[in-house]
Amino acid sequence: MRPAELIEQKRNGGEHDLEDLAELILAYARDEVPDYQMAAWCMAVFFKGLTDAETHALTDAMVRSGETLDLASALGRKVVDKHSTGGVGDKTSIAVGPIVAACGVPLGKMSGRGLGYTGGTLDKLESIPGFRVELTTDELVRQLKDVGVAIVGQTADLVPADKKLYALRDVTATVDSVPLIASSIMSKKLAAGADAIVLDVKVGDGAFMKTLDDARVLAERMREIGARAGREVTCLLTDMDQPLGRAVGNALEIDEARDTVRGDGPADFTELVLDACARLLAYSDLGVDVEEGRRRAEAAVADGSALEAYERWIRAQGGDPDSAALERAQVQLAVSAPRDGVVTRVGALAVGIAAMQLGAGRREKTDPVDHAVGVLCFAKRGDSVLAGDDLAEIHARDDASAERAAAAVLAAYEIGDDAPPDRGVLLEVVG
Ligand code: URA
Repeated sequence: MRPAELIEQKRNGGEHDLEDLAELILAYARDEVPDYQMAAWCMAVFFKGLTDAETHALTDAMVRSGETLDLASALGRKVVDKHSTGGVGDKTSIAVGPIVAACGVPLGKMSGRGLGYTGGTLDKLESIPGFRVELTTDELVRQLKDVGVAIVGQTADLVPADKKLYALRDVTATVDSVPLIASSIMSKKLAAGADAIVLDVKVGDGAFMKTLDDARVLAERMREIGARAGREVTCLLTDMDQPLGRAVGNALEIDEARDTVRGDGPADFTELVLDACARLLAYSDLGVDVEEGRRRAEAAVADGSALEAYERWIRAQGGDPDSAALERAQVQLAVSAPRDGVVTRVGALAVGIAAMQLGAGRREKTDPVDHAVGVLCFAKRGDSVLAGDDLAEIHARDDASAERAAAAVLAAYEIGDDAPPDRGVLLEVVG
């Protein structure tokens, strides 16, 4: 296998020999192929795509590049998992985990860090004082048995090829390629051993997939990869034209996830969380359908058992579940409505970038994250507002950064005279 030949072949729209493709990925993971050749190959794939067979070979090679987990054997029961393609204000797993656990289904998840305007679940969890994201596999299994929920960082040994390749794609403008996203996500899900997976495919301005058509293609690709490996996969195509919920920023999102687990979350976020829980419970070994799953998830929120599971989980990973323990930013600045009307748009990308520039996200992989800062979007699409009402609130370290973010967030809002069509957060279910 000569990398230069594979780059040329893909650049010319050709199809790889599947063994050569696997060898390229495995050699890259062993540091035997330089980043510049892999970057050129990723760009060729970005433009020319991969066939289904190539996408499966790529996914399979990524799984084989490291260790795999067999949580089903370790727990002695069927294992369900969820994953999101990433968006602005997406703290779904942090609310879903304890609700599902309170219903008697363990959820052990490996999550990532945020980069750019999309936040990462691990960064959000690390805004909880004392919270540990690095657990050994034994600790993960023990916590799943004792507490029912664990969210941890991806270990170095699991899918190392994706870890390297994702970091490279991130700096070479090759993230938003359907076969590369599909194989990246599914390799991690397959290696972590889930039998059934709910994938939240974000669609819109603040997501990799900008249109429903593109999101459907990605969803189908991921379902096919799952089916080949004998895993059940459902994809929820969900709105990312506006931020999810109100909170964008690490500690602010933890607060909102906790509120949602105790039944006091924003409507769109609550709907997505309960729907994902219902589908995970229906996939589990409880033997319930989606309707009954939804009923049980709602009951766990209503009777406080989901909040108890949340608190047990956060304590089990060393954190303090009390929201008073979260760090708050010194400066809070309101963003006011300039006129009466109806909110027709809250640009997710612009709000995500404003939060990142406040320090809530990273521009570069090595940037530190400021857990306290962010944006609360009180007014969402379809809400009526009067001039002077608070549309949003900026949480910042100083007045200058607060003013800059306030201007950017105000520009993200569009206020019109007529209510936009109510699309809801769940746009479509594939599978
Ligand atoms: N999330 C991933 O894990 N991989 C991608 O390629 C995109 C989103």
